[in-house]
Amino acid sequence: MANVNAGILGTGHSYPEGILTNADLEKIVDTTDEWITSRTGIKQRRKAGPGEYTSQFAVRAAQEAIERAGIDASQLDLILCATVTPDQILPSTACLIQAQLGAHKAAAMDIVAACSGFLYGLTMANPMIRSGQIKYALVIGAELLTRYVDYTDRATCVLFGDGAGAAVVGPVENDHGILAARIRSDGRYEEQLFAPGGGTKGGFTADTIARGDHFFKMKGNEVFKVAVRSMSEISRDVLCEAGLKTDDVDLFIPHQANQRITDAVANMLNVDSGKVFSNIAQHGNTSSASIPIGLDECVESGRIKKDDVILLAAFGGGFTWGGLVMRW
Ligand SMILES: CC(C)(COP(=O)(O)OP(=O)(O)OC[C@H]1O[C@@H](n2cnc3c(N)ncnc32)[C@H](O)[C@@H]1OP(=O)(O)O)[C@@H](O)C(=O)NCCC(=O)NCCS
Repeated sequence: MANVNAGILGTGHSYPEGILTNADLEKIVDTTDEWITSRTGIKQRRKAGPGEYTSQFAVRAAQEAIERAGIDASQLDLILCATVTPDQILPSTACLIQAQLGAHKAAAMDIVAACSGFLYGLTMANPMIRSGQIKYALVIGAELLTRYVDYTDRATCVLFGDGAGAAVVGPVENDHGILAARIRSDGRYEEQLFAPGGGTKGGFTADTIARGDHFFKMKGNEVFKVAVRSMSEISRDVLCEAGLKTDDVDLFIPHQANQRITDAVANMLNVDSGKVFSNIAQHGNTSSASIPIGLDECVESGRIKKDDVILLAAFGGGFTWGGLVMRW
């Protein structure tokens, strides 16, 4: 199959029923609704109950995306699940999803790239579809971050929430779909945002659990600065590669980390605020799920129309970051 582009054919999302509001957090940690709202834009986040796990939300989001793409799960060639909160260490969450969907032909694996994971997945599926190596890929971002949040650490626990988003990617008319995509990383920033316990280095013992080594730890100020710079730069790079200008962008969906990060990136790129998507007030930071949830909410509300130019940018622990521009 020559001269095809890869584009999104269908999207879906899902999240837990449980809601954790800023007022709820005021009762468990030394914070206020006023602080959280003014510093982050977050008013509430979804929080999974004890019996719930990541793949359940991923499967629901995926089923919606597959149905909207008008294909059958058996036609999928590849499933990439971006997650830093898998159901279990082995097998991958993607394999568990593959079985649930009945996608018997699909290769499946997880992507560990934190908040940039969904863009990593789209970027990797893109050349496989363009080259004809595969026809349909399912890219998912799914996280239960609240399981790894220390609810005694006010600097992190107010930020994160749970959810999943999915997209079926496949061949589209060749001036549509993904026009340019880039992903980057810099592991020297490991300790700016990390969870040291639970692996072969930090171990997983009663002591590591008591110390809370498995919880996310973050130097918020540092992350903030690098996030703004990296997302702005990579957005400019992909627009340039696609031969587009900021004015050509109809909708900008950045990773939802902090409303102030979104505003600063939009400001640096000079994107009109009316073109910038935000759902951070309702969801907080859902890591790899935030962009696909945002995409699907925009599809559902009619905010995305055929031929629209959509810019996506993400940044996350690692550090990792990515940018992608597509014509819908
Ligand atoms: C975490 C973040 C919201 C903190 O906001 P900030 O404006 O940088 O705040 P600071 O960390 O400088 O802290 C300012 C003060 O608020 C306090 N504070 C931190 N969290 C608080 C909370 N939830 N409630 C009340 N006060 C809080 C700090 O202790 C500090 O107090 P001090 O001045 O007495 O020492 C912000 O840095 C951020 O969003 N960073 C990026 C995080 C991120 O996106 N991570 C994921 C990457 S994808």
